[in-house]
Amino acid sequence: TRTIDLAVIAGDGIGQEVVAEGLKVLDAALQDVTVRTTPYDLGAARWHRTGETLTDEDLAAIRQHDAILLGAVGDPGVPSGVLERGLLLRLRFELDHYVNLRPSKLFPGVVTPLGDPGEIDFVVVREGTEGPYVGNGGAIRVGTPHEVANEVSVNTAFGVERVVRDAFSRAAARPRKKLTLVHKHNVLVHAGHLWRRTVERVNAEFPDVTVDYLHVDAATIFLVTDPGRFDVIVTDNLFGDIITDLAAAVTGGIGLAASGNVNPDGTAPSMFEPVHGSAPDIAGQGKADPTATVLSVALLLAHLGHDDAAARVERAVAADIAGRGTTPRTTSEVGDALAAAVAEALPAS
Ligand code: NAD
Ligand code: IPM
Ligand code: MN
Repeated sequence: TRTIDLAVIAGDGIGQEVVAEGLKVLDAALQDVTVRTTPYDLGAARWHRTGETLTDEDLAAIRQHDAILLGAVGDPGVPSGVLERGLLLRLRFELDHYVNLRPSKLFPGVVTPLGDPGEIDFVVVREGTEGPYVGNGGAIRVGTPHEVANEVSVNTAFGVERVVRDAFSRAAARPRKKLTLVHKHNVLVHAGHLWRRTVERVNAEFPDVTVDYLHVDAATIFLVTDPGRFDVIVTDNLFGDIITDLAAAVTGGIGLAASGNVNPDGTAPSMFEPVHGSAPDIAGQGKADPTATVLSVALLLAHLGHDDAAARVERAVAADIAGRGTTPRTTSEVGDALAAAVAEALPAS
């Protein structure tokens, strides 16, 4: 039998709750495949105990796994940014997760704030290792009326080209073959024009992909008024962060939005996580929807080549969503139902 050697970083808040359900479904979805999980004690509790976010030893150990499942990090008791930067972003950067894949699909039966928007099925390819996230900046005269605070967006030709090429190849593999660059080159002229020139150049390698462009502000209009127009969106790290929460909201809510932090070159394990955070407002109450994590498990399975299992998980989620009534269910009730549905769908062995 094959094995999946999985690093599990449940993290903080509802991360703990939703990851438990994701693992149930992962186990139920596979046949003749053994899942070996290694939990990593990372997040607020570890930081309070030791002052550490992610040590070199942690990172070296995590590198050895086939993939990583992450819940969420961030805690009101830890200064904002400590865990987000020191743990989550450090993982994305060190493991070269340059493709942050965030699919948005409107499942039948989902209630959206848009009423009846028609079919929505697009994927945001968010750059994962550059932009304003790299920590290139600083502040002087902090706390004075003359404070200056800079966060410099880093965009390299190498970094932009590799994510743009990945987005083109994803667009080329989809029926509509459409790629939308989202940026703000009317203002951010240096980075914006690098992105635009790169898209134009790489388009020559993918002549059957149709390209268009939207400034990010206008993109937020169309994500609400006409989300069906999007197929593949490629954008930088910060714009991608913002528009994918919006994309989640229009396709049924943040409780359904999955993501993969992908290292397409396979030089390090890829990491799968819900788009949402640790949700301190509902943590510990069994209220979190684990579906985003379960769909992230489906992305993980597909990434590792277990396409049948991934499809079983997606179908179970689609059926569960279609059958949702108005009675609220707990986190583990949803997880149990999905695990049972997935197990039911296993081929007879
Ligand atoms: P959040 O995503 O945690 O919560 C936003 C809102 O969505 C809250 O009202 C929350 O209750 C709700 N929500 C989130 N996930 C849900 C789920 N599965 N089911 C039902 N409702 C859900 O974003 P935030 O409040 O901006 O951030 C909270 C903390 O999480 C911060 O520390 C932030 O830095 C961190 N964060 C981490 C990640 C990550 O680990 N990838 C992502 C986003 C935010
Ligand atoms: C996300 C989160 C993270 C991001 C934060 C917590 C660093 O918002 O995964 O979307 O901005 O990428
Ligand atoms: Mn975000």
